Amino acid sequence: MQIGWIKAVDFRSYRTLSVTPAPRLNVLHGPNGQGKTNLLEALGLLVTGRSFRTPRTADIPYWGAQSAALTGDLVRADAASQARRTLRRTIERLDDGHWQSSGESVEWARAIAFGWQDLDIVNGAPVARRRFIDGFAGRLFPVHVAALIQFRQLLARRNRLLQQRSGDPAALAQLAPWNEQFALVGMDLVNRRRRAVAALQTELARVYATLCATRSKVEIRYRTALGEASDAAALLAALDRAQREEARRGQTLVGPHRDDLTIEIDGVDARAFGSRGQQRLVALALRLAEVLPVTEAAGTAPVLLLDDALSELDPAVREQVVRELGAAQQVFLTTPEPPAVKGAAVFYVNAGGVAAA
Ligand SMILES: Nc1ncnc2c1ncn2[C@@H]1O[C@H](COP(=O)(O)OP(=O)(O)OP(=O)(O)O)[C@@H](O)[C@H]1O
Ligand SMILES: [Mg+2]
Repeated sequence: MQIGWIKAVDFRSYRTLSVTPAPRLNVLHGPNGQGKTNLLEALGLLVTGRSFRTPRTADIPYWGAQSAALTGDLVRADAASQARRTLRRTIERLDDGHWQSSGESVEWARAIAFGWQDLDIVNGAPVARRRFIDGFAGRLFPVHVAALIQFRQLLARRNRLLQQRSGDPAALAQLAPWNEQFALVGMDLVNRRRRAVAALQTELARVYATLCATRSKVEIRYRTALGEASDAAALLAALDRAQREEARRGQTLVGPHRDDLTIEIDGVDARAFGSRGQQRLVALALRLAEVLPVTEAAGTAPVLLLDDALSELDPAVREQVVRELGAAQQVFLTTPEPPAVKGAAVFYVNAGGVAAA
């Protein structure tokens, strides 16, 4: 799929914005703080209805504005089908002070974003890896997004009960009705995450080896205290076993909210031993590895939004990244330096404006 055009009003640093990108590689360059990432965010929000940068809708409208609006065309021009959808998305301040976003969803529209925060997937806390795999699983299996929200509600409810009744083993009976649902929803999450990891593995190994032009092998594995078990009964049994400890500590100790991913380069933990450049490259490779599975799941290729993806990489690796991107459908790549990328459409971003170069 591709973004045919986009217009924005009062979106971040843009009072008005109008961009007609090219179908393949688009390079957005310009000095720091001029709106490159803001433009990527607008493109991502047009496609998915959500910001990859923040869950706080209120941050998005131009300072002091009461609303922000995006309009644009999403175009699907693969062999299987042709479609063009004109979308309008708005973020508005309601009378009660809350912010509301509206706009329709397009079932085949997907965007994959890479930014400096993605380094956390490799060297940050487990929560960053869970967020990564949940984001990817959501692009593969749309039900994952709603299931995740439901799971968080169940977890919060369970933790509240455990806290209120902390140290009172007799009150554990109260948890029983929650446990069953928690186990069902939780195990579904685990299983979808495992399928997502499996879908990523082959592409990750290929992309990483291609980018650094070596035979280095990157491996990713899902890590859970549940071992290989895949049915809800196993999670239920684990909750049973953890009962006393949970009552003592007042929190849920088993489930997908405690799981993690292991990422290894040539059998060595990338988090502990990877160089910073290697870690950045693995993070980028993870995002690029999403492309093929997401294309298969959605029926059309996703739009790639790559924020400063070339920095900290050596020249040979940069060249490989650009080559790999040549095979993708529509890509937006920001860089503070004037680009040396052949065949790309180039836009200059400065002082709240975007000009085709
Ligand atoms: N809601 C908003 N309203 C107006 N301006 C905003 C808003 N949110 C962010 N900005 C401004 O946008 C600018 C940052 O834009 P952006 O992050 O897109 O820069 P960039 O071109 O990506 O820079 P860098 O090269 O440093 O990554 C900041 O100067 C910030 O003050
Ligand atoms: Mg930026």
